[in-house]
Amino acid sequence: MRGKRVAAEAAARVLLEEVLPRARRVGVGTGSTTRLVVEEILSREPEALRGKRLYASSLDTLLFLEERGLEASLRVPRGGLDAYFDGADEVSFEAGTCMVVKGRGAAMTREKILAYNSRYVLLVVDESKVSSEVGEKGKPLPVEVLPDALTAVVEALRAMGLRAEPRGGCGCRDGPAVTDNGCVVVDVYGLEKLDVLRLEAMIDSIPGVVGSGAFAGYVDEVIVGREDGSWERRRCRRTRMNPALRRG
Ligand code: A5P
Repeated sequence: MRGKRVAAEAAARVLLEEVLPRARRVGVGTGSTTRLVVEEILSREPEALRGKRLYASSLDTLLFLEERGLEASLRVPRGGLDAYFDGADEVSFEAGTCMVVKGRGAAMTREKILAYNSRYVLLVVDESKVSSEVGEKGKPLPVEVLPDALTAVVEALRAMGLRAEPRGGCGCRDGPAVTDNGCVVVDVYGLEKLDVLRLEAMIDSIPGVVGSGAFAGYVDEVIVGREDGSWERRRCRRTRMNPALRRG
């Protein structure tokens, strides 16, 4: 798909020219777009990531970076990160705040932790991920749940009028999808009926929920790549960041 490649090339350029020269601690997201961005950075400037401290949002990303000779950590450092880049499943630009859904790869909690603890967050998507309102593509909102609370959380979500399905059928194991944190994933459908912020607050208030893929206010910029080879860079209103970073 050309749009993804276009977005990754544009993101690599922005990161190399504007972000990486000033960033020492860099977080790396999860998924195929993030991998393309990393490959693109390495092909343009093989040494660009070598002197950096890298933080992976998943075991998958950690292994990918290691295969390319890059050391990374899964642990969030004291003082946070300078920059974080990642892909997304769906993005809308509503009232200046970027509404985002993530978690197809079950890495959303760690991704959100890295985004919250980064001074600059860049998302990279192709045009197929952009909606006028999040939810219109019918994609689910992934929710990470402590295994022992799975049944109770699913019951609570359904009682709230949401369609909630434990994610299964992953092919490599029997039973529900398990995250890097040893938790399970529940996919929640029907996002189009609810505001992302309200939905996030509702879901996060259920004991047993570890986190969700609803990202509203965690992002500074989004790069969108199109099939025709063009791309655009959208600024977002950042409202969620670890307050300790603002002081530092
Ligand atoms: C991982 O859990 C997800 O949040 C990914 O970041 C998201 O699904 C984007 O992945 P792709 O770039 O592969 O579409």
